[in-house]
Amino acid sequence: MTRESWATRLGFILAAVGSAVGLGNLWRFPWMTAENGGSAFLVVYLAIILLIGVPGLLAEFVIGRRSQRNPAGALYRLSDGSKSWGAVGLFGVVTGVVLLSFYSVVGGWILRYFLASFTGSYFGSAGPYFEAIGFGLPAVGFHVAFLALTALVVVGGVRDGIETATRVMMPAIVVLLLALAGWAVTRPGAGAGLAFYLEFDAAYLRANVLDVVGAAAGQALFTLSLGVGTMITYASYLGDDHNLAFDGSAIAMLNTGVGVLAGLVVFPLLFATVGELTGPAAQGGGPGALFVSLAGAFSQVPFGRVLAVLFFGVVALAALSSSISMLEIPVAYLVDEHGFERRTATGALAGLVLFTGSANALAPGLFTFVSGPLVDLMLTAGLTGFLLFAGWVLGPDALAEFSTGAGRRVRSVGPAWLWSVRTVLPLFLLATLLANLLALAGVTLWS
Ligand code: TRP
Repeated sequence: MTRESWATRLGFILAAVGSAVGLGNLWRFPWMTAENGGSAFLVVYLAIILLIGVPGLLAEFVIGRRSQRNPAGALYRLSDGSKSWGAVGLFGVVTGVVLLSFYSVVGGWILRYFLASFTGSYFGSAGPYFEAIGFGLPAVGFHVAFLALTALVVVGGVRDGIETATRVMMPAIVVLLLALAGWAVTRPGAGAGLAFYLEFDAAYLRANVLDVVGAAAGQALFTLSLGVGTMITYASYLGDDHNLAFDGSAIAMLNTGVGVLAGLVVFPLLFATVGELTGPAAQGGGPGALFVSLAGAFSQVPFGRVLAVLFFGVVALAALSSSISMLEIPVAYLVDEHGFERRTATGALAGLVLFTGSANALAPGLFTFVSGPLVDLMLTAGLTGFLLFAGWVLGPDALAEFSTGAGRRVRSVGPAWLWSVRTVLPLFLLATLLANLLALAGVTLWS
């Protein structure tokens, strides 16, 4: 059986953008921005995307295309059968399952808000509504529905499932967000939101630099789908004619654009309706904060129901094109390494996540731990492993793969890329890993 591949160049880019654009852009990014000083966070975040994110993305692409495998198989084979490197890849496969276990719960919330927007049933009571549906049995039900949708696309395979689905979803997301942003920034009172978001606040940054950098680094990895092997897996379905550096930059730019655009919807809308960042969103009131604020905002504007349906529709599509990329990693692993049928592998893994996700949906404390510190740690550790592998084990081969399909200009930056993949990037990630661990253990470096 020959391995599947993307039908078109654009298909790969759209699928990778589909993976990258998700709840990370539309839910986590505005939330992190709100919690970390608005514009101060935005600037640091953009710098980290450029300096760490893009080269890291290329490292995963190089491993994936070189090996034509899932992460575990890729590291095992490319290291000539090293069990330890295989374990690093397998760690990514496990992270994929962990990620999906909380992501699917949030996806379930979105599905629920989307449906409830048609009737506006949460309009009078945004806060209590989230309290009622956020955790417990109702959350389990919608988590299962979201997971089923995810599995349905993944069963379809790379071309007919993932590529076709993202080809439709991505343009729809961009068009809807543009329309919503255009509307939101012209609301009376939106200016304060724009100022919070876009006027650089150097004083805040100086006072909180470690927190801001740590949060921005975690967000950058999450939003680019790095550290798990999603991008290894997607690039493994890729041919030699692709210019990896070009595709990677396009993907990072599109993804960042959508995140910034989401901020242009959320902040003007919140400031225009609430007047300032008050309530749960301002105090970093946990995962539901943004929904509560937004839902409240939609209830106060004309045509709020239509806008809410559009907004949550966009978020649902974006979440789905990301969750399929999480499920695809362990599915590719079982198919490549253990000879499973795609259908069986998808069913078995969806069955597993049914349970692990339900645990998250039933236990808010577990959910908060998994979706925050645990995921940050696993992504950072995973990407560090991939970088060290590409830099030191593949080394010159990584450079050769980087150059395959690339023009002269791109090839000339190859050595600088390899150098940063070997040194600066892993060091930076290890530092954030350490900082995260210390924070988790309750140690404050200084105050
Ligand atoms: N990047 C996606 C988002 O922003 C989430 C995601 C999908 C992801 N696949 C991933 C995150 C793999 C880390 C690793 O919503």
